Amino acid sequence: MKTQVAIIGAGPSGLLLGQLLAKSGIANVVIEQRSPDYVLGRIRAGVLEQTAVDLLLQAGIGERMGREGLPHDGVVLCFGDQLHRVDLHALTGKRVMVYGQTEVTRDLMDARAASGQTTVYEADQVAVHDFDTAHPSVSYVKDGQRVEVQADFIAGCDGFHGVCRASVPAGAITEYEKVYPFGWLGLLADTPPVHEELIYVHHDRGFALCSQRSTTRSRYYLQCPLTDKVEAWSDQAFWDELRRRLPADTAAKLVTGPSLEKSIAPLRSFVAEPLRFGRLFLAGDAGHIVPPTGAKGLNLAASDVGYLWQGLTDFYGGSSVGIDRYSQRALARIWKAERFSWWMTSLMHNFPDNGAFGHKMQVAEMDYLFSSQSALTSLAENYVGLPLL
Ligand code: FAD
Ligand code: DHB
Repeated sequence: MKTQVAIIGAGPSGLLLGQLLAKSGIANVVIEQRSPDYVLGRIRAGVLEQTAVDLLLQAGIGERMGREGLPHDGVVLCFGDQLHRVDLHALTGKRVMVYGQTEVTRDLMDARAASGQTTVYEADQVAVHDFDTAHPSVSYVKDGQRVEVQADFIAGCDGFHGVCRASVPAGAITEYEKVYPFGWLGLLADTPPVHEELIYVHHDRGFALCSQRSTTRSRYYLQCPLTDKVEAWSDQAFWDELRRRLPADTAAKLVTGPSLEKSIAPLRSFVAEPLRFGRLFLAGDAGHIVPPTGAKGLNLAASDVGYLWQGLTDFYGGSSVGIDRYSQRALARIWKAERFSWWMTSLMHNFPDNGAFGHKMQVAEMDYLFSSQSALTSLAENYVGLPLL
């Protein structure tokens, strides 16, 4: 098989890149190790920045998002039983869009199927070759047959545990990592959200987040020890613990119901530098991870893809400036989101080794935040997303 861009991974970054390239007339093949149902079954992000929304619109998949997505003008931070609303729109003139990653992925899958581009699901033993030459290739095994795809470029959109970053020689890459001493236990339920906006809760028992997918579907998260097993958390135990971490009048409004999904995710900050190795590019979680507190992971994946799409379009138009600048441009935005996600994680969670002083610092930080217009504006600007530079 021959193509212009071989894309590894059919998560949001791989599918969005494929769709944008197709719109620009650039042929691509997406190679994914899992099945479409498996990819759609992973419940993850829920909040989109305007930049991500704009890219999805450019990819031609904004129609259902426009109908079913929920624009939010603000978010709520809760500290010591006090709710503080951050008026994102008043502070920045921008809003965020609540529309689940599952729905984004489904829309991208449908658009890809309609466009007739090749997507290979359930590809085994995916491997990338010769990306330090002008003739890279990808191989995989499907139904017992080995297939080779020759391409001009390889886009590594295969997530944190993918094969692309792992194929780069150790001396050519630098990795920066911080692992947090807790995880998030998430629960999805067909119950109306407890509040019309998201609530991020700092509590002595641990962080909690009240999010949503629609006016009838809620998504909640609880900070939990890394040693916890999801099977040991009954729905009842989850709801009881969430109620304990909410202020009494919010807890009283909580509507509970059977979970549709429950899972535990570890929290990590991670950046690989650079993001280009000859004719291999890393984009999305393949190149970096943020702890989910700032809702930045999917949004960064979208902005990486935006830069890479521009670079590849320029390349086929006769200029390699865009692909030469890809790594530097993407990393500048990534480090800003890493800072914000780390800061918000540090502010909102209960750290086992923080001690009384650490807790006082969190209280002081929160007091400062809500007494300083510039601190609040900075939070709002980062939450709605910094512009694409
Ligand atoms: P992935 O979604 O990981 O997709 C990579 C794909 O590559 C997968 O389908 C995988 O099966 C495939 N793959 C892996 N290895 C191979 C291989 N060897 N060969 C072929 N295919 C392979 N982000 C936000 O912006 N907002 C939020 O509100 C938010 N909330 C989150 C909440 C939680 C609990 C979690 C865990 C994450 C959250 N995120 C959020 C982060 C967001 O989900 C990720 O950043 C996003 O999924 C990254 O997309 P991706 O396509 O780069 O990677
Ligand atoms: C969701 C996840 C997040 O990490 C976040 O900050 C906000 C919302 C969600 O899954 O809805």
